[in-house]
Amino acid sequence: MNNDKRTIVVTGGLGYIGSHISTILLNRDWNVIIIDNCSNAESNNLENIKRSTLKNLGVENLLTFYQTDLCIRDEVDEIFKNHHEEIFGVIHCAGYKAVGESVQFPISYYRNNIDSTLTLLESMQKYGIKNLVFSSSATVYGFPKELPLIETSPIQPINPYGQTKYMIEIILQDLYNSDSLWNIAILRYFNPIGAHSSGYLGDKPKGTPNNLMPYLVQVIEGKQKYLQIFGDDYDTHDGTGVRDYIHILDLVEGHICAIDKMYSLFEKNNLSFGIQNLSFGIQTFNLGTGKGYSVLEILKTMESLIHRKIPYEVVERRTGDTGTVYANADKAKEILGWSPKYNLFEMCQDSLNSEHKS
Ligand code: WQD
Repeated sequence: MNNDKRTIVVTGGLGYIGSHISTILLNRDWNVIIIDNCSNAESNNLENIKRSTLKNLGVENLLTFYQTDLCIRDEVDEIFKNHHEEIFGVIHCAGYKAVGESVQFPISYYRNNIDSTLTLLESMQKYGIKNLVFSSSATVYGFPKELPLIETSPIQPINPYGQTKYMIEIILQDLYNSDSLWNIAILRYFNPIGAHSSGYLGDKPKGTPNNLMPYLVQVIEGKQKYLQIFGDDYDTHDGTGVRDYIHILDLVEGHICAIDKMYSLFEKNNLSFGIQNLSFGIQTFNLGTGKGYSVLEILKTMESLIHRKIPYEVVERRTGDTGTVYANADKAKEILGWSPKYNLFEMCQDSLNSEHKS
């Protein structure tokens, strides 16, 4: 069995999610190839990944970075052509992800998110790399018809961003139906917050943040005057929106568990590479904690950490928002052996730490 297959490609590997995944993979003795076009991530995040890994001295030879766009077929093909013998699988995080922006610019969202995925899959297929973990989203559920959400809950995306995620899920299912040698884990993220304890990585989108936590941290840092709370008339205990927040490191662990499961099947079958019958199949998992917290609960937890009030103003509901969303993540626990470990206080504390060191 060829043991050189210890490399994982992380697309979007300089982004908030991807940079944390890359860091933990390196700490778990995987080699990492990052493909990122830096459209929504700082290129200095590569240095931050090196500073965040335990191996920051010798990490250079374990970490390779290509600044390119996944939509550029020739460049993607060149990367896989040069590295296919060492690559075990791909964790696909690259994609535009701002809900509001997707409503404004649907064509660029469909073009970018779908095209980049198809280009990636073509290169993977061409070079016989058939292990994939895909970053999907709870947004595919739209307005929940039932709670907690399970993987077979009704799917009804309500914005182009969510539509692209679900379309890619369908593409992956059709790909598997055409060739059952593929092993695909589809991970539906709930609301990732927090950061690696080093403080070098964090949710720092370019421009004004759309999401609650990065915006709240900017209010605390004085970069924004106050938080706008989008509605306090929802059917929740305090009227503000309730979401299933999950620590980024718990979310990352879900990816590692999926890759490790595929790799353990590969080792167990003791197959020479290229004729894989890992029987992971194609499986979808919710990655959430199963607990929901409101906007005001998040704000009050942050106030307890900084020992001062945070200015906010209740405004109109945001279009496309719903009142309560939270997951049932039992399937990931049972099949991947994954379970979230961080509590709300730790999520908020780590969100604060990362801003100070950015
Ligand atoms: C959380 C709560 C808002 C900002 C989105 C995407 C989802 C995923 C996570 C990618 C809601 C309230 C927010 C603010 C506020 N991303 N809020 N003031 O909308 O649950 O999910 O991000 O996969 O796909 O849809 O996250 O952080 O934007 O909002 O009151 O300035 O905070 O109304 O109740 P959301 P969010």
